[in-house]
Amino acid sequence: MTTRPAAVIILAAGEGKRMKSAVPKVLHPIAGRSLVGHVIEAAAHLEPEHVVVVVGHGRDLVVEHLAEVAPWVMPVVQEQQRGTGDAVRVAMEALTARGAQLAGPIVVLTGDTPLLTGDTLAGMLAEHDAACTVLTARVVDPSGYGRVVRTDVDVQAIVEERDATDAQRSIDEINSGMYAFDAALLAENLARLGTDNSQGEEYLTDVIGLLTGAGHRVRAHIAPDPDDIRGVNDRVQLAEAAELMRDRINVRWMRDGVTMADPSSTWIDVDVEIEPDVTLLPQTILRGPTAISTGARVGPGTTLVSCEVGADAEVIHTWAELAVIGEGAQVGPFTYLRPGAQLGDGAKAGAYVEIKNSTVGNGAKVPHLSYVGDAQIGEGSNIGAATVFVNYDGQDKHRTVVGRDVRIGSDSMLVAPVEIGDGAYTAAGSVITEDVPPGAMAVGRAKQRNIEGWVERKRADSASARSARAAREADGPSDRVPLADSTDSFREE
Ligand code: UD1
Ligand code: CA
Repeated sequence: MTTRPAAVIILAAGEGKRMKSAVPKVLHPIAGRSLVGHVIEAAAHLEPEHVVVVVGHGRDLVVEHLAEVAPWVMPVVQEQQRGTGDAVRVAMEALTARGAQLAGPIVVLTGDTPLLTGDTLAGMLAEHDAACTVLTARVVDPSGYGRVVRTDVDVQAIVEERDATDAQRSIDEINSGMYAFDAALLAENLARLGTDNSQGEEYLTDVIGLLTGAGHRVRAHIAPDPDDIRGVNDRVQLAEAAELMRDRINVRWMRDGVTMADPSSTWIDVDVEIEPDVTLLPQTILRGPTAISTGARVGPGTTLVSCEVGADAEVIHTWAELAVIGEGAQVGPFTYLRPGAQLGDGAKAGAYVEIKNSTVGNGAKVPHLSYVGDAQIGEGSNIGAATVFVNYDGQDKHRTVVGRDVRIGSDSMLVAPVEIGDGAYTAAGSVITEDVPPGAMAVGRAKQRNIEGWVERKRADSASARSARAAREADGPSDRVPLADSTDSFREE
């Protein structure tokens, strides 16, 4: 049974210098969620009364982000980064100022530990029965972290690496920077913090020594998986955390019945939903709230951003964003579906096809080399190869409506606004600028004429002329080059 915390305080005011980024560290995303967003998610698992995020560097961006992803958290500004102890005090003062009743423990977390899970926090709280419980981990390389100095079972103090003795540096149990505190004892001892250390900062970790010095007990809860408390301080650690997160997410989906041909090249955001018996082929990236229904096959080489894929659909070598792909639909290879592309059940968007803001009806097909923009294509229609929906007149976009069971000839230009009636045809190579009534054949191109003998007269010494002559001689007795006529100058000279 887990005690519900009175408040969770997430420290996120630091600059994150080592990221070398214009973006505040805690806003860098992995698996489609910011670092601080992952921590908030873990905190929410505890159902705390209040969640405070202490912000400082890049505060405007962080506050804006919090309002978007977790409007229920309370951002509190720490004007100057005077240390983790000062940051927690600022948060406690803000809670008190808002009249928060701090009945129950205070949990302190850092904003840059995205692999933290709600279960790990619940484990710490379930054991919490002291003035403070420190979340710790045993690691092979403790360098950079505060070390946990124990009496026998209890924690006596936490010593920062910079301030540690050689003997203390050899301790392999590290402070995660996450704790559960008794609220009253925390407030009381924050007031007693000094800055007598190598950084001249108020260390939250010194509260531990103050508590034990006054005879209070401090316990440690060792994180079951040391990865849970990994912090991200630079881009290398960001990539490592992303990889660990990817593996966790993939293992979960595989256990839920999703086949992955190559989990190491499959990247799935936290908000994706996948039904059992979906197959993901190598180099598939599923971002945002993408949802994939059972039996669908996605990849290889496919990125879907906020898309819906229907049951048994197949999506190969495709980039799609905010697109809906119907049941049993076929997409790709090399297809680009832009926002508002909606393919009906059994529809097809084939190779080198780009579709945006358009519906393609059930069973309708756009098989090859086409652009479809701002259009509605009825059920069962077929759009011939290399057709362009000419939606832009240089200033405004216009819509095209294609009815049911229409056959658009290859290389048609459908100049919007234009409407093609049910069952109509367009001749290949047509430029269609006027509406076509149902069942009509629209021909919108120049009539073909052949200028006999043109090549032999105008390109006399060319390979083409020699082949033409050979073909003419093989064909019949006449060896005369046909006479020139007035059409000779057609398009030439
Ligand atoms: C801290 C701990 C260390 C622990 C480590 C785990 C202290 C003194 N040390 O060290 O024992 O092993 O975390 O990662 O607490 N922050 C503020 N305001 C401040 C200072 C920091 O909000 O004035 C925030 C930072 O943004 C960061 C967190 O607090 O998210 C930790 O601060 P940081 O300076 O990174 O502490 P560490 O040196 O890593
Ligand atoms: Ca840190």
